[in-house]
Amino acid sequence: MTVTIKNEEQREKMRVAGRLASEVLDMIGDYVKPGITTGELDRICHEYITGHQKAIPAPLNYRGFPKSICTSVNHVVCHGIPGDKTLKSGDAMNIDVTVIKDGFHGDTSRMFFVGKPTVQAQRLSEIAFESMWLGIKELAPGKHLGDVGAAVQKHVEKNHFSVVREYCGHGIGQSFHEDPQVLHYGKAGSGMELREGMTLTVEPMVNAGKANVKLLPDGWTVVTKDHSLSAQWEHTVLITADGYEVLTLGANDR
Ligand code: MF3
Ligand code: CO
Ligand code: CO
Repeated sequence: MTVTIKNEEQREKMRVAGRLASEVLDMIGDYVKPGITTGELDRICHEYITGHQKAIPAPLNYRGFPKSICTSVNHVVCHGIPGDKTLKSGDAMNIDVTVIKDGFHGDTSRMFFVGKPTVQAQRLSEIAFESMWLGIKELAPGKHLGDVGAAVQKHVEKNHFSVVREYCGHGIGQSFHEDPQVLHYGKAGSGMELREGMTLTVEPMVNAGKANVKLLPDGWTVVTKDHSLSAQWEHTVLITADGYEVLTLGANDR
């Protein structure tokens, strides 16, 4: 698939989809408490997206994914399937929401702590968050994808954590996953040159231990091989004439 450049009308639709995705995360935060199950969080998000937003939860039935959001708890790196897992104080969880509105996708994820976070979870989440922003700040016409990856990798490794290699950010638009792949490691100046009108995600997965991951037999859940904690944050971003516009800012980011 080739990289799509969005015209002004399409950019506006991406803004709407991005805002809706971030509003789901704004909404679900209050429900993340000890005793709730990941399946209940999924049901609440599904209702909000379909009932209130009149939008479509993109993960549901995407390549056979069975639920409307991804819930990745503790050593789960990404694509955790909501179910009967009950959250307990000290758990750290990524919730990843992608909605489709008027044919366009908005994709964003954040870390949530259940009760009081451990020192390690807080630190890991903070470094993952900072690394996502350092990557985003590289985005501008004339810059290269390698600039993003290098900025993310440098910050993560400086802090003695590791970057997952097997999963990456992506172009996004009328399709969930478009070209290009946005690697969260690499060499500055390398890779595709960025152009105004591209929309893509930056979504580093950062492990407390080694970078290696393993896919569970359910075909979706990705865990750290060494069972160390993992954290991830994600924004959908538009490349503008003079830099970038983050389309999935939350109520607390504006
Ligand atoms: N939202 C994820 C991403 O950031 C993809 C989830 S695919 C699913 O690209 F099928 F697991 F939902
Ligand atoms: Co994504
Ligand atoms: Co996502």
